[in-house]
Amino acid sequence: MIYFDNAATGGFKPNFVLESATDTLKHLLCNPGRSAHRLSVKAEEFIFNTREAVSNFFNNGSIERIIFTKNCTESLNTAFFGILKKGDHVITTTLEHNSTLRPLTYLKNLGVITLDIVDKENLYENVLKKVNKNTRLITVNQVSNVTGEEQNIKDLGDFCSKNNILFSVDGAQSAGHIKIDMKEQNIDILSIPTHKGMYGLTGGVLILSKRVDISPFILGGTGTETFNLNQPTTFPEKLESGTLNLPLIVSFFDSVNYVKNNLDFFAKRLENLTSILIDRLKIFDKIKIYSNKNKSGIVSFDFTPFSSMQVADYLNKNYDIAVRGGYHCAPLVHKSLGTSKNGLVRVSLAPENNENELSVLISALKNLSLS
Ligand code: ALA
Repeated sequence: MIYFDNAATGGFKPNFVLESATDTLKHLLCNPGRSAHRLSVKAEEFIFNTREAVSNFFNNGSIERIIFTKNCTESLNTAFFGILKKGDHVITTTLEHNSTLRPLTYLKNLGVITLDIVDKENLYENVLKKVNKNTRLITVNQVSNVTGEEQNIKDLGDFCSKNNILFSVDGAQSAGHIKIDMKEQNIDILSIPTHKGMYGLTGGVLILSKRVDISPFILGGTGTETFNLNQPTTFPEKLESGTLNLPLIVSFFDSVNYVKNNLDFFAKRLENLTSILIDRLKIFDKIKIYSNKNKSGIVSFDFTPFSSMQVADYLNKNYDIAVRGGYHCAPLVHKSLGTSKNGLVRVSLAPENNENELSVLISALKNLSLS
């Protein structure tokens, strides 16, 4: 298969990450933090090491505020449901994924929050126009999963910090592609998947600054304070109930180091590959491209008269090429782009993809145009 669906889940994992996960399953099968035996204590040490590596890489200033979750969606939900209170006003953008739009709409419909969704064009100015005395949170998708377009989040972070507003960033398509420094960019809440640009197994992390006051969203056993029927108030236990995903967390230490050592190379490589692909797509009269070269590897297009799902299906069935058609769970981006009817064909590249694979895609599209 030619795998061009890396924005959904990264298709390439370094062997040492897979080996670390396998070793964990073979030699460290236990429940960390629940028992005092040798394995459990060892597992706790590995978890701490990964927490420390993640904290250093994203510079949140607090190892214990690294919270392991099921995926980026769970990270975002944990933040929204744990932080927002009756009367809070929230501002977000048309760039968001449903993992932001749906929980915020739900909280709005319950009468908990008021919500403004601003257009991505002139984002900074649009956000500022909506700020009011109740604005508690501004949450922005750093890179669109539909187009690969990146937002300048630094100015928004600075604004939030000066105005005592919490700033949340959805890093689903930026983590592992673009340097994120939470202190420098004044980010309070960073939600990331482990399994896309970060080269890990499937999962997520919620990364909080010390400014964030948060209640638990999922409650339960933490291996601590058993006779306290209230959830512990210390981090990370407060937000991490139940058994953790040990193979992911242990091997994520290697993933983080891999990304840390190669971030600039990956970014250049993906800028180069997206630029080549865009140039090659430009030769088709019937293809309209919705992306510019970018560090996240995303290139989306439509191909008249076909719907995006027809193109994706053709590539899958005839060439074993994996892309994602449709709407990518980001309805408002498609509304702004005017692509709500047919969706877009999204090619999402990883640094491990190569020009030969792009050539196969281009010749497949040529054959489709002749069909
Ligand atoms: N949100 C993921 C994507 O963009 C699954 O495909």
